[in-house]
Amino acid sequence: MRRRWMAAVAITMASALSLSACGGDQAAEPTTGGGDAAKQVEVFSWWTGPGEADGLQAMKQIFEKQNPSFTFFDAAVAGGSGDKAKALLQSKLQADTPPDTFQGHAGAELQGYIKAGDLEELNSLYDELKLQDVFPAQLIDQISVDGKIYSVPVNIHRSNVLWFNPGVLKEAGVAGAPKTIEEFTAALQKVKAKGKIPLSIGSEWTVTHLLESVLLGSLGTDAYNALFKPGADWNSAEVTKALESFKTIMSYAGDPQDDWQPAAKQVADGEAAFNIMGDWAYGYFHNPPEGGLGKTSKTDFDWAPAPGTEGTYLWLSDSFTLPKGAKNRDGALAWLKVAASKEGQDAFNPKKGSIPARKDADQALYTDYLADALKDWSGDKLAGSIQHGVSVNQPWLASINEAVGLFLGTKDVAALQKALADAATANAQ
Ligand code: GAL
Repeated sequence: MRRRWMAAVAITMASALSLSACGGDQAAEPTTGGGDAAKQVEVFSWWTGPGEADGLQAMKQIFEKQNPSFTFFDAAVAGGSGDKAKALLQSKLQADTPPDTFQGHAGAELQGYIKAGDLEELNSLYDELKLQDVFPAQLIDQISVDGKIYSVPVNIHRSNVLWFNPGVLKEAGVAGAPKTIEEFTAALQKVKAKGKIPLSIGSEWTVTHLLESVLLGSLGTDAYNALFKPGADWNSAEVTKALESFKTIMSYAGDPQDDWQPAAKQVADGEAAFNIMGDWAYGYFHNPPEGGLGKTSKTDFDWAPAPGTEGTYLWLSDSFTLPKGAKNRDGALAWLKVAASKEGQDAFNPKKGSIPARKDADQALYTDYLADALKDWSGDKLAGSIQHGVSVNQPWLASINEAVGLFLGTKDVAALQKALADAATANAQ
């Protein structure tokens, strides 16, 4: 009950923020055509905060220009990684009052919506726009069941990024980005000795986000990917070692911040040395001050693959859906067309800090961090994110988040490992 209430407050705040942020645009006006609410297209996401909202606004502008008869209604719910949005979405889906389109992660998360019968298939849209040719085949696999495709991926994000402040590292005598977990803990210790925050963290989901990079960095790509197959051994000595490293790394964490933005900001402001966060942090660091921090790349912040994970892209992808029973189905399809388009993706992604899901995007728009990301995406091995819906479905993730939450209090590695193993046994399919 309390959770629902909090989500409802967040949606009100989010709408207010997004309306005031883009003052004077169409969403702030009452609907035209005699208040015809059917013309509104309710787009549900969790992109409200600094950095997050910029990309959405860019796509919204294209949508409104191309579709003068529809009004974009921003139903975003605040809270990084959708931790509040997804709870509200579930209640809307259960009550058969879905938004017209909602954000869902490619992979196990989307498969959950498909299996629950929440989504319409989009094969005719894919045929009409020839989308089978422009998205990577392995990405289409993640959003399909039995040859039917259920969402439109708008981007590829990287989860395993180590953001760091070059000045803080220098001051602490750390020569460069640590490449292994052992080098990482040594660097954290050096920063601690200088009195700066070694590692910044945000709300609880950011700790699960950190855990996935530590598991990947400690186990290696094949053993990490094997964790999500039925019968996987989460009780192995290798997983124990990874979790011990996680405990050591977490012992250098600063005070938990409210969400990922304030934690990332501690690095860009020179208060903290390191933060492991997805590359949406790049949009936040780099975008001009109206939405981002306007920081200088390589001076205020720098990046490297999370320790031990070089050569692997721990990936995730945001996609938009057509829920069954959408009030404005035509409006939702019009939104999906923008999300699928080269123009939409090339407006959205440079601001969002992600690379396009389309293979034919304009590479010249992806500079600085994003040029590195494009290059790595084309050559790296792949591993699927835990926190962001690729490798585990929502019930499994909820159990992992609960185990990590308990661990933050107990620091008990054996109990964490048992809870993770139990979660895998209960949920792996
Ligand atoms: C992820 C999402 C990203 C970004 C991030 C932080 O789950 O895929 O697009 O929004 O959460 O909120």
